[in-house]
Amino acid sequence: MDISRVQNILGYTFMSVFAVFIGLYPLRFIGLSYNDGLLGSKPAALLDSSLYLTGFYTHIFLGGLALLAGFTQFYPKLRKKRLNLHRNLGKIYLICVLLSGTAGLGIAYYATGGWIPAIGFAGLAVAWLYTTANAYVTIRNKLVIAHQKWMIRSYALCFAAVTLRIYLPLFIAGFGMEFIDSYKIIAWLCWVPNILVAEFLIVRRLPSRA
Ligand code: HEM
Repeated sequence: MDISRVQNILGYTFMSVFAVFIGLYPLRFIGLSYNDGLLGSKPAALLDSSLYLTGFYTHIFLGGLALLAGFTQFYPKLRKKRLNLHRNLGKIYLICVLLSGTAGLGIAYYATGGWIPAIGFAGLAVAWLYTTANAYVTIRNKLVIAHQKWMIRSYALCFAAVTLRIYLPLFIAGFGMEFIDSYKIIAWLCWVPNILVAEFLIVRRLPSRA
């Protein structure tokens, strides 16, 4: 087996395992009291706001669904053999990003840790909406290669939900940093390098057409 095939298998396995694991993670919020988890760090006045809570739950559950709907879209065989499934999952992903991304932009304003994570998450939300909108427009115009490139970018941003949850324990338990200090860095670190990885994958995978 050649090295690039091994790299592909490892890459797809890494992506799939983490997409499923973190995609299901929001389920832990079902029945969780407002005093626990991230909501426990929010002021009471914010937790009284049904608009904030609607935004929060819309964001986390549809964000999870976006991760779950997205990862199989990159399997070339599935795309070729089950084009209808690919299209339907694509529509689900698009709607999830639209709603979860917009809600994410709204709740970013109230991010724990102040303006540094707030701007980091808001930037991520705008980039996620922008790249996904481009993926939609390009496929509507039958520009398949351009669509693939925008989807690689969009899903790399979606994967910020995964990278954030890998870095946080690493920074806190591994480097001994305080949660808030780590959060300020990771609100940016969870997505900016992902975009660079996406550009690298685009050049490597679609070389003649990049
Ligand atoms: C890619 C664009 C995304 C943006 C802009 C974004 C933004 C945010 C923001 C602003 C918060 C609140 C942070 C705070 O109040 O301190 C948050 C929390 C959360 N987000 Fe996202 N997020 C994104 C993707 C996702 C995805 C794909 C998932 C799917 C699992 C997800 C799941 C969650 C969960 C579960 C929380 C609650 C915090 C926790 O306990 O870990 N997010 N997100």
